[in-house]
Amino acid sequence: MRKVLITGGAGFIGANFVLLMRKAHPEDRLIVLDKLTYAGNLENLASLKEGPLYRFVKGDINDATLVDRLFGDEDIDTVVNFAAESHVDRSILGPRDFIETNVFGTFTLLEAARKHWLPSNGDGKRFLHVSTDEVYGSLGPTGFFTESTAYSPNSPYAASKASSDHLVRAYFHTYGLPVVTTNCSNNYGPYQFPEKLIPLMVINALKGKQLPVYGDGQNVRDWLYVEDHCTAIDTVLERGRLGETYNVGGRNEKKNLDIVKLICSIVDERTGSGSELKREFPFDGSRAKLINFVKDRPGHDRRYAIDCAKMEKELGWSPAHRFEDGIKKTVDWYLSNRRWWERIISGEYVEYYSLQYSGRFTGQVE
Ligand code: NAD
Ligand code: DAU
Repeated sequence: MRKVLITGGAGFIGANFVLLMRKAHPEDRLIVLDKLTYAGNLENLASLKEGPLYRFVKGDINDATLVDRLFGDEDIDTVVNFAAESHVDRSILGPRDFIETNVFGTFTLLEAARKHWLPSNGDGKRFLHVSTDEVYGSLGPTGFFTESTAYSPNSPYAASKASSDHLVRAYFHTYGLPVVTTNCSNNYGPYQFPEKLIPLMVINALKGKQLPVYGDGQNVRDWLYVEDHCTAIDTVLERGRLGETYNVGGRNEKKNLDIVKLICSIVDERTGSGSELKREFPFDGSRAKLINFVKDRPGHDRRYAIDCAKMEKELGWSPAHRFEDGIKKTVDWYLSNRRWWERIISGEYVEYYSLQYSGRFTGQVE
């Protein structure tokens, strides 16, 4: 039985991972540490019961005293570090939280692991750091990011994740801490906060609101269904080689504008004549007419594409979901879980959600 500390487990990918781990490894004790920022949501974990196999702790990965106590009291042997500020646009508007959580927070976790694990050589212990392909910067029209691509981050978010990756690497080489890092491409699926492209477009399309496409909409992302990212992390946790990094991706490059058009057609179809949802989400014609080209994101990376051959060949992992199926499942999840996102776009979260509509890339800072 492992004692697994999952940081950021109430967020989008973290919650999907906790739910997957609960099923895949029913014997493990899962301890979720989450600050519950605007992006953390305990509703995502509502199906889990506190007890010998699960505990939720509200707290900051930067709180060294709390982290130290958790390592000691819980005898943590495995860490999966999801906790982060994750949205590029917010990092442009206010980078400070990104440095504090992504850089200093990761450092605090590494220090606790070093203190508690290294007196006994770290045998049987594992620290998995969840990172992003954005650390590699932007690709031209061809080529892929491999594990040996040089880091070249372009946004404050990407730079903060790159810093944390370097710290993780350094703790392996300097102290022998048993670490492994994953660098994944864009995820989509259930529980994604509606500031990110796919859920934002689904919800705006349903509500008949403008669909803000940055620049010319020709930027390319490599999309992966979140469950596939979670199985990749589970695989790396079990079989990944210590000190290594693994690229995780969907081999699924799409232009932003094509994604938005596809979402419009699925939403049109789901709410079309004869559908039960027509009355709730009436719309005349196709939602594609809501597409609105807006000012580009500063430093907007043009193209990301992951070469995940190392995951496939060395660890036998590959994505199970085709994008065409995953995107329909995702739209259907947002249709079936209206209360989840309606609470977010009203009331306590409205300020954050409305970032999407206030003149954000106009030069104003924190
Ligand atoms: P998210 O923003 O949905 O969730 C982040 C979670 O971390 C939230 O629950 C939040 O409350 C928590 N958190 C934030 N600051 C914290 C702190 N100081 N202490 C404790 N908890 C804190 O993010 P996500 O999209 O689920 O991303 C999770 C991780 O995966 C991040 O490290 C991100 O960089 C990485 N990643 C994300 C993607 C993607 O497409 N979303 C792709 C590759 C990698
Ligand atoms: O590549 C992995 C990264 O993917 C993760 O590390 C990040 O945590 C995650 O947020 C995501 O970053 P992106 O910046 O790629 O995701 P986002 O959903 O913000 O944007 C996807 C693309 O869509 C990007 O090219 C910008 C564009 N976009 C986004 C929004 C929110 C728009 O055109 N309009 C929008 O309103």
